Amino acid sequence: MQSERHWKMKQHIFLIGFMGTGKSTVSRRLKNLLKVREIDMDQAIVRESGMRIPEMFERFGEAYFREKETQMLRTLSARAPAVISCGGGTVLRPENVEIMKNSGKIVLLTATPETVFRRVRYGRERPILNGHMNVAYIAQLMDKRRAAYESACDVRVSTDDKTPEMIAEEILELCR
Ligand code: S3P
Repeated sequence: MQSERHWKMKQHIFLIGFMGTGKSTVSRRLKNLLKVREIDMDQAIVRESGMRIPEMFERFGEAYFREKETQMLRTLSARAPAVISCGGGTVLRPENVEIMKNSGKIVLLTATPETVFRRVRYGRERPILNGHMNVAYIAQLMDKRRAAYESACDVRVSTDDKTPEMIAEEILELCR
């Protein structure tokens, strides 16, 4: 079964969605199921720059981070098929969506603002939520980004009340 899944992986799987929708956790499950490489874009950027994301935002600003994100996406998309977990804001640049559309399947993970809040509330690595760690702000930002997420994706999976394993299996079914 797994080897069958393995040879079917001919293009990347990009996981997109708002912060706290489970992109990183689910991509690690997909990696185990598909036996392919898995890359977390945020982690790759941190590794490459030697700087944590909040520090990068503080010292160089959001635009600098967004540029790093596009560069990283270009590099990764040119490599062998992998599961790529994107940052929550990756879809905000049309050129990023173009890169993803040309090299893989785009899977949108969704969750309610309440679920997102529960998952991210103790995190310290998301400068976008600094000083706004509440359901109302999350709901507002999610609404603002909704159209970008919806128009970028090929398939969507709701993650509320599901385990990472359930979500990963659902994605495999949809991407077959
Ligand atoms: C961001 C989401 C973060 C990270 C950065 C900006 C965003 O990734 O890329 O802090 O703009 O939504 P996660 O979605 O993995 O938290």
